[in-house]
This record gives sequence, C-alpha cells and structure tokens, in this order.
Amino acid sequence: MSDSTSRRHFVKQSATLASAGVVAANLGVASRAHAAGSGVIRVGLVGCGGRGTGAAAQALSAGSDVHLVALGDAFMDKVEATAKNLSRNKAFEGRIDVPAERRFAGFDAFKNVIDNVDVVLLATPPGFRPQHLKYAVDKGVHIFCEKPVATDAPGVRSVLATVEEARKKNVTIVSGLCYRYHKAKNAVIGKIHEGAIGDIVSTETYYWAGGLWHRGRDDKWSEMEYQMRNWLYFTWLSGDHLVEQHVHSLDKIAWVLGDKPPAKVKSMGGRIARTDPKYGNIYDHFYNVFEWDNGLRLHSSCRQAVNCKTGVNDYILGTKGKAELQSAEITGETNWKFRLPRGESDNMYQNEHDALFGALRKGEAINNGVYMAQSTMMGIMARMSAYTGQELTWDQALNSKEQLVPDAFDWGPAPQRPVAVPGQTKFV
Ligand SMILES: NC(=O)c1ccc[n+]([C@@H]2O[C@H](COP(=O)([O-])OP(=O)(O)OC[C@H]3O[C@@H](n4cnc5c(N)ncnc54)[C@H](O)[C@@H]3O)[C@@H](O)[C@H]2O)c1
Repeated sequence: MSDSTSRRHFVKQSATLASAGVVAANLGVASRAHAAGSGVIRVGLVGCGGRGTGAAAQALSAGSDVHLVALGDAFMDKVEATAKNLSRNKAFEGRIDVPAERRFAGFDAFKNVIDNVDVVLLATPPGFRPQHLKYAVDKGVHIFCEKPVATDAPGVRSVLATVEEARKKNVTIVSGLCYRYHKAKNAVIGKIHEGAIGDIVSTETYYWAGGLWHRGRDDKWSEMEYQMRNWLYFTWLSGDHLVEQHVHSLDKIAWVLGDKPPAKVKSMGGRIARTDPKYGNIYDHFYNVFEWDNGLRLHSSCRQAVNCKTGVNDYILGTKGKAELQSAEITGETNWKFRLPRGESDNMYQNEHDALFGALRKGEAINNGVYMAQSTMMGIMARMSAYTGQELTWDQALNSKEQLVPDAFDWGPAPQRPVAVPGQTKFV
C-alpha cells in the first residue's frame, strides 16, 4: 500500500475499531505511526470559492500531516485561483501537491476529487451538497461539510439518510455550522444548559446583513453558468438567504433548545429593495415565528439590504435571567461573561478543522449530521411558509415534495422559478 492508501485504511480501520469499543488498545499503534511521520492525510476541496479556499487553509493549518492533493470546481478558473492562492502561503510549503491531473472542473469534479482523498471539504453552493455528501459517504471518505446542506426538503431527507449511513460506517462529518466549535458559544450555552437563566421562556435571533456580491453576466455564459456564478440569488442553489445565511442563527437557537425540531412555523417575507431581475428569485427580508410542542417560541428575522441597520445577535430569556449569545454573556440572578483564557485563541473556523483532524488521528468518528440537516430544514420550512403565506408543521415541511434541484445537470438552461407571492404560491 502507498502511504496515502495505508493512511486511509488506518483511518477507516481505527474508526471501525472505535465503534467496536476497542479503540484504546489500538490507539497507541496508530498514534506512533503518525508521530513517526509515515502518515499523510490526503485532503481534497470541492468548491474553490471564498469559503472553500479558507477551509483548505484551515485544514492545512490543522497539522503538518495534512496535504492538499486534489481540487475541484465547476470552473477551472476557480481551481487555478485557489491553487495559486494557497501556494503563496509559506506555512503550507511541500504540502500542496495538486498537479494538473488532480485539478478537476465540471459537474463531476466532485467524484474525481473524492476518489483521490481521505478527507474532502465540501464547499459548493448548497443545492449540490446532498449529492456530494452521499458520494463521499458511499466512498468512505471523511468530510468537512459547509452549511447549509440542502435547499429543499427532498435534499434534507437525502442528507438525513446519508448521515445515518455515515454513522454506521464511522465516517466523520464535521459541519461548517461553525458556532458549534466556538469556545465562547460553547461556554455560554453550557451555562444556559446548567440552569444559569432558569427555565427558558422565550428566544429571539436575527441576522441583518448588508448587500452581497453580484458577479455580473457574460454573454459567453449559458443560463446555467450565469446562475451558478451568481448562486446566492437562486433558491435551488442557495435556498434563499434565510437558509444560506440565517441558518447560523437558527442553528444556535436549535442548539440551546436541545436540537428538538420545532412543531410549526409561520413566516412572512418579501423583496422590496432588491427587486432587479439580476437578483434572481430570492427575497430580501423574512420574519419567522417558530413554536415548539411546549409552547416555547423563537422569533427570528433576517434581511439583506444596503444602507440599513445591520447586526447579528441572539437573546434567550429565562425565569432567572437572560443570555446574549454573540457577546457570550449572562445577566440576572447570575452575572457572567465569557473570558478567553490568556494565550488561547478561539477562531471557530480553525477549531472545527482541529477537531476533525484530531479525531481522525485518534481513530474517532465525529458525526454532526443530524443537527446540520435539522437546522437547514428549519430555514427551508420557514422559507416555504413565507413564500406560500401558510403556517406549516415540521412534518408537513419535511415531507414536502417540492424539489428545486434538478436530478441531472447540464451547461444549458437552468431552473426558472418566479419570485414567490404569498397567498398565490402553493405549498407542495
Ligand atoms: N460557515 C460559514 O461561516 C460560511 C461562510 C461563507 C460561506 N459559507 C458556505 O460555503 C459555501 C460556499 O460559499 P462561498 O462563499 O465560498 O461561495 P463562492 O461562490 O465563493 O464559492 C463557491 C464555489 O463553488 C463552485 N461550484 C458551484 N457549483 C459547483 C459544483 N456543482 N461542483 C463544484 N464546484 C461548484 C463555484 O464555482 C465557486 O467557486 C456555501 O454553502 C456557503 O453558504 C459558509
């Protein structure tokens, strides 16, 4: 076996051993093998954009045994840009090994990357995620999976099945819902779970952002290429910003509330400032009220608009006080604020890669799959409620038959959907 093959074999074998409860007996051997320098963890990136390039840098910063060996993107210009960008970093010298034959473009690039690596970083627009995730788990390749993980309910159902398969095979899935790897958020949510604010009576979260990029149109591009280059503005690719961006906010509250799916949601939204057709079919603002079986509510809102108030925060009200998650602070009967111990850093994007590669070296498997799917579904559920103007239950939404993402992809036409009109757009 080549180093890489044996490394992959080791990672898989030790994960299996972990599940069998015998990992401790074998761990010493595995760790020694790694410390002796014989182990290289071969990493590939699918989706060479801003986040993917960042994730690759964080993976490479997670240890000198991490080598980047394959890059894939829909477009070769993106692959080349990422290769160039990462190669400039002296800290990665000798560990970026991506010759022309391991640079892949097109809709099948993900398969080529996954077939060449031990760990894949999935960072394309989320419409493609269910397909990419499934292929990686089928191949037994460990995964860093950016959020959100789908844009429609069939996609979420596929991801739920895939993450269950990953659990059975001890394939690691670390989610890009990065707040879960932030020490400050872990500390404040830990305090809430210990009872520092008493019983939770109400929650609120918001994500109010400015405008985002638009990459224009080139006459040489097909409609498919145009939409993919401007994926934020098309629901089948991004899920709308309620799913794509606000999922972070929904995920934080879901975490606080123990990751129990809400019973129902009623939402409203529309587009009032960002109405130019170049902004595809997404809304620019939403307001959502989620409700759980015990009557607890989450008031959530999100907006993308220029020249308007921006901010991101989350408030948890309890019978003995309140918590603010962004500042990691509790006031009331308990007054407490998170302080990072001197000398420690808390870059959540780095923390998640440190956790992923740390687990692989120890032969342990991490599976963040269920919460990443459920929090994505909260966004999709609220979007469907706002688009249709109807209150929806979790079961209705999760079982929705509305499929936004095509079964197959081609460089020609692309899905065309009108902007939804509440009261007219039907829930399917
Ligand atoms: N965790 C976070 O805080 C965070 C921050 C930013 C973005 N993200 C997420 O990361 C993902 C990527 O976002 P981004 O900002 O990097 O976008 P981006 O547009 O910069 O990058 C996406 C890349 O994927 C490529 N791509 C599109 N379709 C593809 C396909 N089918 N196969 C292969 N490559 C394909 C694009 O060409 C592009 O290079 C999104 O899901 C986004 O929500 C997460």
